[in-house]
Parts: sequence; structure tokens; C-alpha cells
Amino acid sequence: MTPRLTARALKTFQSRMLGWFRAHQRDLPWRRSRDPYRIWVAEVMLQQTRIAAVMPYYERFLARFPNAQSLARAPEPEVLKLWSGLGYYSRARNLHRAAKIIVTQHNGQFPRELNAALELPGIGTYTAAAVLSTAYDVPRAVLDGNVARVLARIKAIHGDLRVQKNWRALTAAAQDFLAPEAPGDWNQALMELGEVICTPQSPRCAVCPAAGHCRAFAEGLTDEIPAPRRKRASVHMKIAAAILRDPGGRTLLVQDPGAHDTVLFSRMWQFPAVEVTRNPKAELRAHLSKTLSLAKISLEALPAARHGVTFRNITLLPFLAKVRALPKLPRTRILPLRHLSKLPISSATRKIAAAAVHPMTR
Ligand code: ADE
Repeated sequence: MTPRLTARALKTFQSRMLGWFRAHQRDLPWRRSRDPYRIWVAEVMLQQTRIAAVMPYYERFLARFPNAQSLARAPEPEVLKLWSGLGYYSRARNLHRAAKIIVTQHNGQFPRELNAALELPGIGTYTAAAVLSTAYDVPRAVLDGNVARVLARIKAIHGDLRVQKNWRALTAAAQDFLAPEAPGDWNQALMELGEVICTPQSPRCAVCPAAGHCRAFAEGLTDEIPAPRRKRASVHMKIAAAILRDPGGRTLLVQDPGAHDTVLFSRMWQFPAVEVTRNPKAELRAHLSKTLSLAKISLEALPAARHGVTFRNITLLPFLAKVRALPKLPRTRILPLRHLSKLPISSATRKIAAAAVHPMTR
């Protein structure tokens, strides 16, 4: 373990970091306000999602739900619709549930107290620390993958950062370094450094405010630290989906969670679909017969699409099925194909629909 910095060295490090952040931070929408609600929504959207992808969703979401009250009052499908395409939909469901708790139990204000924040659905130690420090200057250090990389380089922590011993050391380092007079700016500065300077590949050490305090830099180890994480082997799967179409241009969606629903369709409205292996058309036909009592249906293969969710590599195989009438069943919706985006649907469903409305296939 590296020795702690002297109090003086720590002060110098903190003031360099804060000075750099205040001069160079990017103008991001959630940095324009200290409203805990706005910061909370941003932190949830930013989980596992790039800033550029979050931006348009963030603006739209806040325009529609400017505070916890408006979010709490909304029906869940409307919340999901605004999240549609951003992925990891449990985030939206938890946000919605948490907003209701904030309204009923916390007077509509995001709680200031750590334990109360941690009790809200979807809030773990990272999100709680990010919101409390940025909105209320509560002295809690954040630690996510980005910040961990920065700290691992500064402290020259070898090996997989996620193993318990290393993560503990990083948690302690994060808290030791936190500038007590500006916890919010401090946390944001570390995140910013990880995103724009101390990047996984080719970190820009020449312009880094932490270079003079960084062991990996001093010892020429920035390429070795952090050690590469052992990746989970990727899993390939094929999903065949039926775009049923009646003569009026209407289609049918189901909300029927199959084995793959949580990764791909997230319990949202989807085309009837099934995981397939060797004979996609026959397997899909059997699925339609079993679940929708549609027999002897003719299926026309449309262009396949690729879809990646974490370690899963999915091939989507859309089939067009022209039917005389769509079956009326519970947990199904019938609507014009072009009105699909009025319902909460996942990116995978969007890709399947695109195959059917693409001009090449008409
Ligand atoms: N990633 C997660 N939270 C962030 C934030 N507040 N600013 C920039 N990037 C982030």
C-alpha cells in the first residue's frame, strides 16, 4: 500500500484538481443546476450509458417531468416511453418508484441523509454519493469505474480493480482524497478527469493536473494500470420476431415476458418473438401457433439486424406475416405499424420494426 500523502501534498493535489476542473469542465446540462432532482436523473441515466447518448433523453425527460412531483404523478408507460431506446429499463421503473416515495415520505425533496437516500429504489452507494455531494455538498466520495481507474493510477494499484481487496483500497483512497470544502466539485472533477484526460487508452498525462501526484505516471505504468478486466465470453443468440400485418396496416404487440425478455424487450411492448436455433422460420411459426393460435401462417424473411446487450450478441430475425385478421387476446395491443413509437418499446423492437417499414422491403 502506498503511504498517505502529507497534509500539504494533499492540499496541493486538491487545489490543482479543483482549479483544473473549474477552468476546463465541460458545459453539461446537469452541471448548470444544483437541483438534486436534476442531478439524480442525470446520474441514473449516465449509469452504463455514454454522455452523448444521454443528452437528448435528459432534456426531453426534464421538459416533461421537471420535478419529483410531476414524475410521481405520471403513469409508468409514459415514463418508460421517454426512456425508450436508452436501455436498462429497470432504471426508469426505479426512478419512478423512488419519485413517489420522495413525494410521500420526503416532502418532494431528494433526502439529504445518506441512509434515507440508499433506501430509495435504484440508488446505490455511487448514485447516493454523486447526488448528495453535488447537490448538498455532503462529503461522500464517489467511486465508479472511471474514478477507480484514476485512483488506481495515482496509487499504482495493480491487478483487477473489482476484486474486493482492491475495491476496498480504492474506496478508502477516494474518501481520503475528497476535498472537504468542495465535495461536489471534487467528485465531478475526478469523473471529468477520467472521461477526458485519464482515459483507458492513451491518457493525456502531459496536461493532467494530477500527473505530479501520480505513481503510475512516475513509474511509467499508465499502460499497465488498470489491469485489463477478464471479460465474460460473449454469447450469441438468435431471436426471430413476427411483424404481423393486417390489410389495414395494423400490427400486434405482446407484453409476454419470454425467457429473453429482460435483456431484450424489458417487459415492454414487443413483437411476438422467440429464441431460435437451426430453423428460425419453423420455430417462429410453432411459437405463433402455440401463443397466439395462429396456424399455417406465411412468413417472409426481412433483413436481419444486430443487437448487442452487455455480453450478448444478438441477431434479430424479423419476419413479415400478412394476416387477414389479427387475433384479439389479453396482454396484446393492436395498432398501426407506424404508431409503434407511441408505446414504450425497446431498441430491439425498434430495429425489428425498421425492417418492416424500410423502403427496400416494401
Ligand atoms: N458520469 C457519471 N456521472 C457523471 C457526471 N456527473 N458528469 C460527467 N460524467 C458522468
